[in-house]
Order: sequence, then structure tokens, then C-alpha cells
Amino acid sequence: MKVTITQIFLLLLLSLVHSFAEQRSNEGEEVERSQFPSGFLFGAATSSYQIEGAVLEDGKSPNNWDVFCHIPGSIKNGDTGDIADDHYHRFLEDIEIIHSLGVNAYRFSISWSRVLPRGRLGEVNPKGVLFYSKIIDNLLLKGIEPYVTIYHHNHPQELEERFGAWLSPLMQEEFVHFAETCFENFGDRVKYWTTINEPNLFTELAYLSGRYPPAHCSAPFGNCSSGNSDTEPLFVLHNMLLSHAKAANIYRHKYQLKQGGFIGIIANTFMYEPLRDIELDREAAKRALAFYTAWVLDPLVFGDYPPEMRQYHGNELPRFTSEETKSLTQSLDFIGINHYSTLYAKDCIHSTCSSDGDRAIQGFVYLTGERHGVPIGERTGIWRFFIVPRGMEKIIEYVKERYNNMPMFVTENGYSPPEQQDEQEEDLVQDAKQIEFHKAYLAALVRAIRNGADVRGYFIWSLMDSFEWVYGYNTRFGLYHVDRQTLRRTPKLSARWYAKFLTNSGHNHVADATPGSSKIKDAILTRLKTQKAEM
Ligand code: BGC
Repeated sequence: MKVTITQIFLLLLLSLVHSFAEQRSNEGEEVERSQFPSGFLFGAATSSYQIEGAVLEDGKSPNNWDVFCHIPGSIKNGDTGDIADDHYHRFLEDIEIIHSLGVNAYRFSISWSRVLPRGRLGEVNPKGVLFYSKIIDNLLLKGIEPYVTIYHHNHPQELEERFGAWLSPLMQEEFVHFAETCFENFGDRVKYWTTINEPNLFTELAYLSGRYPPAHCSAPFGNCSSGNSDTEPLFVLHNMLLSHAKAANIYRHKYQLKQGGFIGIIANTFMYEPLRDIELDREAAKRALAFYTAWVLDPLVFGDYPPEMRQYHGNELPRFTSEETKSLTQSLDFIGINHYSTLYAKDCIHSTCSSDGDRAIQGFVYLTGERHGVPIGERTGIWRFFIVPRGMEKIIEYVKERYNNMPMFVTENGYSPPEQQDEQEEDLVQDAKQIEFHKAYLAALVRAIRNGADVRGYFIWSLMDSFEWVYGYNTRFGLYHVDRQTLRRTPKLSARWYAKFLTNSGHNHVADATPGSSKIKDAILTRLKTQKAEM
């Protein structure tokens, strides 16, 4: 079929009108807290490596990122997380700002190498435990639910060196030991646990494209000194799923009844739309969901990888024993979803594609943010994140339908502006675009909830500007701006908007709503006083 220049022009025009119309309609929507179910958690999120700093303080050992950041060329501008936002020393100030937002939950993660510097080979580091314990106590005192991620992209470097970390099944027992240490020390106060943040994204970036440590990849995906992009991601994710399942089962059997919390996992999600208006690309969009989101979630709900993955990977895709299947399918109380963007999907089974779509590991799908040079939504500071609010409604709908409407949390959603030359703080805090982003995505979330989705919380990524992995510090997702010289935190317009949005219906402070909360408060106050006296 021949496409004429006039047809291309018409297509371009149609896309522009469509994206403009969507933007207008999203701008028009005013979203209010009262449109969400009662008890809904509204929070902000961070992760340990991205904010803590204190790289080798108080017994912490080096982790995979500490080492990676110091390899020249790994991170933009040579940035590292050595100091990050210095949250390790400023956590009390940070809890004040969290409180001032009026959120009823705060999502953060635990640094493995701070709590267990040598993994199973060494002792628990009491100073590491004390640090997180104080965070939890101080949050609870302010009526803020600690929502804790056990693993967010970082582990002791020693595990990497000893047995290749996630590439080895030995990592499963290490992870279980770490998770259990967390349940033992914090589980009396933590009611929401997520075991692993985005196994799919971490696996992709660390073992397929090689952009995260340990930087494994092979052609055509990248040029790394070791790795196999076609197979290693499959083994790594397999180990991550089994680690999650084992840890969750220990929680179920030893802790849950006594501690009364819930446990889940977090999948990174994109929504996909067909690049061309043809059946092949509609199928490709479905396949992309299977090879990314369902890759993580199907085994945990149905006990095996998605059928499409079995079909295209053949024997390369690891198998679960019947015992493993059992433990996988008993491991979720809820699903956490990180969602930022939507991409176009093009079929690569029957159509010609460039090399990176033309592989089983990609589901034979080519993904792109552009159609005929027109982006699917406005661009942001991350190359594959485009503003497409309708994607939020669709991905929630997908998870709801596929997983029998299991309780869900949107554990991350956020916006970073495209980087500009010579940016000044005054301009960076005037982030009207971020407000527009959240309003539009929240409106889409309300639509999904009205449509019956059991969504129980929403966390803005992120509380404050922080170390944005390979992008370093100039990609800024924060509600608070952090000055890189002084580390002073300044609220952006978006922080003020969020606080206003949250006051819109008051209440929802968990400690006040939890039966027996005054008892919990008394215990925390006593503990904090003793700690002070000991210092
Ligand atoms: C990660 C965060 C990251 C964010 C923005 C998520 O995939 O969990 O650590 O900062 O995306 O890129």
C-alpha cells in the first residue's frame, strides 16, 4: 500500500488535534480528595539510595550503587548517591515536611547494606535498625502510615562479588533473611510491606540494557563486558519472584497474625497503544503488557508466566515446581503499581522492525513514544515518559480485569520537567506542569475507581528532588526542591497544591483511626525517650 504525502499530513494533523483535545479535557477536570474512597492512602514516596547519603556511616557497607556510581561514565555529570539529600541526618526535618503536606502515608525503602552490611554472613547492624525504627516511630506519632519497601534496587556489593547477586538462586535465601530481619525489627509498627520494587524494570535496566549495575547486556541491546540480554533477565526475575514468595510466606506464617499487616509487590507498568491502526499492532500492545506487567504478576496470581511468554520463549523460560507455584500464589495481599507513561507498540512478528524489537525477550514488540514524529503525549525529563493520563485508567482497568480486582495501590506516579540550561531555583519551584500532571492522572484514577477498581492508595513520586539513578540530580521529580549546595528543601508550587488538595476533606490520619492507637503512641514515646537518654 502506498501512503501519499497528503495522507501523512492528515495523520499528523489528526494526532495533534487528538493530543490537544486530550490535554484540554484533562485541564478542565478538577479532582477532589472527597472523590476517593474513605481510608484511601495519599502519600509521597522515596527510596533509600536516592535520598539517604551517609554512604559508609554507622556501619553501612558499600552497595551495588555505591560502587557503580564511582565507575566513570556510569552516571550523568559524575553524580553519586554518597550524600544524596542527606536524609540520614535530616530525617526529622523531612518528616516535618511530609507532615506539612497532610499526607496519611509515606512510602520509603530500607537500605539492605545499612541493616545487614554482610548479608547472612554478618550481624544485624543496630545503628541501621535504629535509623529506620526512628523514622517509623516519628511517622506514626504524626499519624502517618509507614509504607515500607524492603528492596528498592540496592543490595550489599558483597553479594554481587560472592555469587553474582540476583543471577544466583543463592540470593533467595539472602533476601529472605533480610526481609525477616525487617519483619522482626519493624513489623510491630509497619502495616504495609512491599517486598521488591519493580523487579521488571530493575531486571530490564540491569541485565538487558545494562544501564544499572551490574551493567550486564549483549548485542543488539548494548555493549557490556558481560551478560546475555536474551536470557539473563529471565533468570534474574525468576529469582526475584521466588525471593518475594519465600519472604511473603514467612511473613504469613510467622508474623502476619501477630503483627496484623499486609504484604505485596510493586510492578513497573506502562500502558501501550497500537502504533498503526491494525490488528497486528493491537495484538502487539497486548503482548507488551504480558511481557512486562504480567511477567511479574501472573506467576504471583496464577502460578506461572503468561502463556504468551511460554509460547515465544520456549525452554529458556524457567519453570516453577509445584511447591513453588503454591508459595507464589499465596504471596500477595495487594498489588503495587508504579505508572508514569504510555507508549506505542508495533508488531515485530509479521512486520519488519529494528533489531531491539525483533527478539523474544521484547515479546517481538517495538516500542516507541512517537508516531510519524508526533509524541504520544507531552515530553518530560525522562526519554520514555510522556504525559498520557488516559493510560492510568487503562492500566488500572487491565490489572483489575486480569487479576480479579485484587486490592491495588498506585505506589508511584510523578513528573519531572525536561532539563533546561542554567535552571534557577525560582523557576524550578514554579512547577505548574507538575500540578497539571497530577490533576490529570488523579482524574483518570477516579474514573477507574468509579468503574469498580479496588484502588486503595496513591503515592506521588517523589517527596523531594533526589538522585534520579543514571540521570543524576538534574532530573527532578520532587514536590520539594533540594538545593545541591546547601541541601535546603523548598516547597514547589506542587507541594502547596498537594497540601491544599489533601485538606479538602480532612481526616484519614491512620494512628487516630487505628484501634488502640493511644497505646501504640505511648509505647513509641517511651522508646524515643529511652533512645534519647542513651545517646
Ligand atoms: C523508580 C524510582 C525512580 C522513578 C522515576 C521508578 O521506576 O522506582 O526509583 O526514581 O521511577 O524514574
